[in-house]
Amino acid sequence: MRKYVDFLVIGSGIAGLTYALKVAKHGKVCIVTKAKLYDTATSYAQGGIAAVTYNPDSYEKHIQDTLIAGDGLCDEHIVRITIKESTERIRELIHWGIKFDKTKSGKFDLAKEGGHSEYRVLHHKDSTGREIENTLVEHVRKHPKIEVIEDNFAIDIITEHHLGIEVNRRTPHITCYGAYLLNPRTHLVDTILSKTTLIATGGAGQVYSTTTNPPISTGDGIAMVYRAKGTIENMEFMQFHPTALYNPQEKPSFLITEALRGFGGILKNSEGKEFMQKYDPRLALAPRDIVARAIDNELKILGDDYVYLDCRHLPKNELINNFPTIYAKCLSIGIDITRDMIPVVPAAHYTCGGIKVDEYGRSSIHHLYASGECSCTGLHGANRLASNSLLESLVFSHRASEDAIQTSKNIEFNDLIPDWNAEGMVYNEEMILITQSLRELQSIMSAYVGIVRSNLRLKRAFDRLEILYQETEALYNKSILTPRICELRNLINVGYLIIKAATNRKESRGLHYSLDFPRTIEKR
Ligand code: FAD
Ligand code: SIN
Repeated sequence: MRKYVDFLVIGSGIAGLTYALKVAKHGKVCIVTKAKLYDTATSYAQGGIAAVTYNPDSYEKHIQDTLIAGDGLCDEHIVRITIKESTERIRELIHWGIKFDKTKSGKFDLAKEGGHSEYRVLHHKDSTGREIENTLVEHVRKHPKIEVIEDNFAIDIITEHHLGIEVNRRTPHITCYGAYLLNPRTHLVDTILSKTTLIATGGAGQVYSTTTNPPISTGDGIAMVYRAKGTIENMEFMQFHPTALYNPQEKPSFLITEALRGFGGILKNSEGKEFMQKYDPRLALAPRDIVARAIDNELKILGDDYVYLDCRHLPKNELINNFPTIYAKCLSIGIDITRDMIPVVPAAHYTCGGIKVDEYGRSSIHHLYASGECSCTGLHGANRLASNSLLESLVFSHRASEDAIQTSKNIEFNDLIPDWNAEGMVYNEEMILITQSLRELQSIMSAYVGIVRSNLRLKRAFDRLEILYQETEALYNKSILTPRICELRNLINVGYLIIKAATNRKESRGLHYSLDFPRTIEKR
């Protein structure tokens, strides 16, 4: 099948859906997702969206908090844009019908999370993401100009390479003409030609064994753009959330929101002692890189598998009322958070790096935009400030939509693009090859490229990954494609990008900590 659309959107989280709703006034839109519309990391978001609303908070305070968390690597211009545009973007969400909790006086009930100097996180109980996703999906489903294709997998973006023209990382004007989509039911690959394309495929937490990310977070967009010779940046900065529920059989790991620490939850070790005072005066509300590393260190000192979050001293009714999802979840496994301490452990959570984009969400490839967790705007630097990611998606999807609307007016479809060539491929019956390689990859990344790294660990990871890469490429090149093999290949790509970036960084900064280079190099 061949399809022509003005705006192709790959991904149905907050980044893809808000962009689609905006460009839909100006042409035909197609949203593609490899799962169901709701199967996104967005649906999982708990804490909320950071934005400046009332005194004593100010744009300047939010800007400074973001820059401090980012440990010297944020792009200050981008930080200022994002935070100054936050008010307008939040107003839009409310206009779409998204409800944020309010106090009895009618003001927003703002929460506080790690690294924030003020209460500024707008939320809907502890299920903010679900409220956002459900509302946006409702609007998208009703929109006459938006076509939704669920359960179809974007394999690759289409560029000159598919016309037989050689493209490498120094080629100056690579252009995107659309994407190839795999329909797993028919095993056929469709060609979608588009005037502009937005990649909004989310993060890559699935590259680690323990992650809060849903199964869809396999870094597909980042890998696609890397293969198409686009620019990828900051991949060494994978954020580990300090407090995922310790429940080893469960995948993905259930998150215990940082807002619970903002509400007064205290971190304690297995001896029931507080420990954050040893690491940072901001205690459990220090930025995430610091808290996750502190927990990692405590676990190593005591040889434990988890630490505790103690909420037993907090007012019972307010605790249950503000965190109903967490209360119910913990109760379901026998933990009453009003009476028992919650066992928690760090888990891979957020991909700070990704597809490098400018202030309009434009990637290094013409007519190709990226927004949301797959992108690297410069907002997060070496460590994302909590609850800044939903905000980033809103701001950059808006900016990208404005640019794409103008750009698409002057673009013709490229009809010379050939359809996908599946000649000589055979059906691969051996799923075990894929599932076992995925497990190996996740275990390599968790053991050697986690919260604490070293030259030796990175070298080991690289050598092991090389074997997986060769085996998987050989299998991929002769197989009839399935989403599973494409995801494995993409995750191996992402693993390689993380290891390469970590190896090149000869210092410790933000989320990247190396035993061989424990200091941060001051910027000149
Ligand atoms: P996603 O919402 O992940 O959507 C990605 C989409 O791309 C999906 O539709 C997926 O199916 C599709 N896709 C991927 N690959 C392909 C492919 N090859 N072909 C077709 N479709 C594809 N951030 C905050 O700011 N505040 C919070 O409180 C917060 N809490 C969080 C809690 C949890 C448990 C998690 C996991 C994350 C949290 N985050 C939070 C981070 C935030 O939720 C995400 O960064 C954000 O939602 C990402 O949105 P997105 O639109 O970029 O991607
Ligand atoms: C949380 O609720 O702790 C997650 C917030 C985030 O990842 O931004």
